[in-house]
Amino acid sequence: MKMRFDIVSANPGILESSLTNGLVSRAVKKKLIDVHVHNLRDYAEGKYKQIDDSPYGGGAGMILKPEPIFKCVKKLLSQRKYDEVIYFSPQGIKLNQKSANDFSLKSNMILICGHYKGIDERVIKKLVTTEVSIGDYVLSCGDIAAMVFMDSVARLIPGVLGDGESALSDTFQVETGFDSPQYTRPEKYEGLKVPAVLMSGNHSEISKWRSKKALAKYRKIKKLNK
Ligand code: ADE
Repeated sequence: MKMRFDIVSANPGILESSLTNGLVSRAVKKKLIDVHVHNLRDYAEGKYKQIDDSPYGGGAGMILKPEPIFKCVKKLLSQRKYDEVIYFSPQGIKLNQKSANDFSLKSNMILICGHYKGIDERVIKKLVTTEVSIGDYVLSCGDIAAMVFMDSVARLIPGVLGDGESALSDTFQVETGFDSPQYTRPEKYEGLKVPAVLMSGNHSEISKWRSKKALAKYRKIKKLNK
């Protein structure tokens, strides 16, 4: 079944570039995925179409109100079956290559993008199946996380990457999670030459060299990240 993303957003403009350029838009054009954006404001009530409000108990910032999100998500849930209702937040399970691989096996997913300081907890309690974080830092909105999520998941769908590209040889699909250095023409540039082994035509030597370099980089970066 074709994968379908329904993005519930308070700021759809942020998503535009990834839906008109790059891998996700190509996958849509190839009819390998469907992406539908739902503007929360279209589900808001009242003269001012209010989608957020101040938090009970006090504090800075605005919280997304539950009603517009419930209305939008319930409408979607009544139209088809969904495998996941995802909410993007720093408190979620980490998006990494393993979880991206797992998500790429799903079909229909609703992606709720928060804004401002957060979202009413009742949305998480009643509607959300999985909270997803793209890293240990705070973003201004979940839409950025949704773009990262869709890119990492869509590129794993067979046919999305072009001929000759393969998600299986990706950096994070190999053992250490690190790739070796890559070179392309010209052979000599800025005083640096392409390592001779890469031009030797000896595939077993090239493969050994790549593993060695990837491992060396892995060790160096792990130390720096401590
Ligand atoms: N929203 C705000 N920060 C986020 C993060 N790190 N990951 C996912 N969604 C977020």
